[in-house]
Amino acid sequence: MLPQSQLFFLLIALLSFTSILGSFEGLDKKFLPRVHVLNDLPPNSEPLNVLCKSRNTYIGERDLNVGDDFTWNAKENALYYCRAFWVRFFASWHAVQPKRDNGKAAVFWLVNEHGFFLSWDNTTWVKKSVWETE
Ligand SMILES: *[C@@H]1O[C@H](CO)[C@@H](O)[C@H](O)[C@H]1NC(C)=O
Repeated sequence: MLPQSQLFFLLIALLSFTSILGSFEGLDKKFLPRVHVLNDLPPNSEPLNVLCKSRNTYIGERDLNVGDDFTWNAKENALYYCRAFWVRFFASWHAVQPKRDNGKAAVFWLVNEHGFFLSWDNTTWVKKSVWETE
């Protein structure tokens, strides 16, 4: 049987350990990005149909008009996948890739007739993918 003071010490150690774990978890969550998929197609284009999900979470499917922003918060450190249809074109891409997007507050996707452009600041864009046809 342990003396009472040692029991007390053990209890305190256990409590601080769980609170440290808890704060790490919180830290992780804070660094999960907000995702934006922006329809930047030419004026009066047909709507852009986009569906996004991770392995565990269904985000949703939207018909985006020109200028619309389909946005959500990533809730897990996982791959988020989207696919898009626009007239006779099809595309799929990784909306969030944990390694690539690590530590970013936001991931922006600009979708237009030329393809799919990635930005972390909504200003500088890099072309990542193009439309496919059957
Ligand atoms: C991204 O930039 C566009 C164009 O400047 C602006 O209209 C839009 O509000 C911005 N979105 C965010 C989430 O900052």
